Amino acid sequence: MANMESPIIKLTSVSKVYPPDHRALDDVNLEVEKGEFIFLTGPSGSGKTTLLRLLYCADRPTSGDIWIDGVDLASLSRGQIPFLRRKIGVVFQDFKLLTNRTIFDNVAITLEVLGLGRQQIEKMVRDILAVVGLEEREDAFPLELSGGEQQRVAIARAVVNRPPIILADEPTGNLDRLRTDEVIELMEELNARGATILFATHDERLFTNTHRRVIQLKNGKLENGL
Ligand SMILES: Nc1ncnc2c1ncn2[C@@H]1O[C@H](COP(=O)(O)OP(=O)(O)OP(=O)(O)O)[C@@H](O)[C@H]1O
Ligand SMILES: [Mg+2]
Repeated sequence: MANMESPIIKLTSVSKVYPPDHRALDDVNLEVEKGEFIFLTGPSGSGKTTLLRLLYCADRPTSGDIWIDGVDLASLSRGQIPFLRRKIGVVFQDFKLLTNRTIFDNVAITLEVLGLGRQQIEKMVRDILAVVGLEEREDAFPLELSGGEQQRVAIARAVVNRPPIILADEPTGNLDRLRTDEVIELMEELNARGATILFATHDERLFTNTHRRVIQLKNGKLENGL
């Protein structure tokens, strides 16, 4: 039966040209249904980061249209972008934790900017620290944790407000195999809790045996987007 729900992410004929004439994305069409967990792959320079940046409005496409949860991003004013970003958790390879603040505080920041009350913040931070397996470390400082643990804090910070969409840009690029598998398991858990996930990686091991959809960029062109 056809899925009658509209896709949570949709791109039609999206191109991105960096001046003067570098075509980083070339006529990209993509539909992502709510609840999907998709691997976005492709060689270095193929446009993965460019694509993700367009989705959270860090940049605008040169042509084409992007809808997130039914909203046409071209219609958003600068002032509306923060509201879009509340729906999207972004996880980078190069996470930056505040080294002079505790793990708890690093995660709470996301909620403080939303103006939530202290009790609610404490509950949500402790919940997500339990999900990432760091509930015992909330009073530690980032440099007292391993690289893998720090990445899990960064993921907790990105998703503590339960965004319906998670964009991950090579979040395991600096991690060893065991830590990488832990991050994937964590993403599976967040997906099981309802998040739609777009996970960019060129680590083929992560998706060779997956039942998930794998989409591939080559020179800015996307395969299997629809
Ligand atoms: N701000 C920019 N200005 C000009 N060119 C850019 C800019 N950002 C990216 N590019 C170019 O666009 C192309 C796509 O870059 P992008 O970072 O999206 O690739 P990627 O697939 O994420 O690569 P990697 O796997 O190395 O992270 C590359 O050729 C890159 O040099
Ligand atoms: Mg990249």
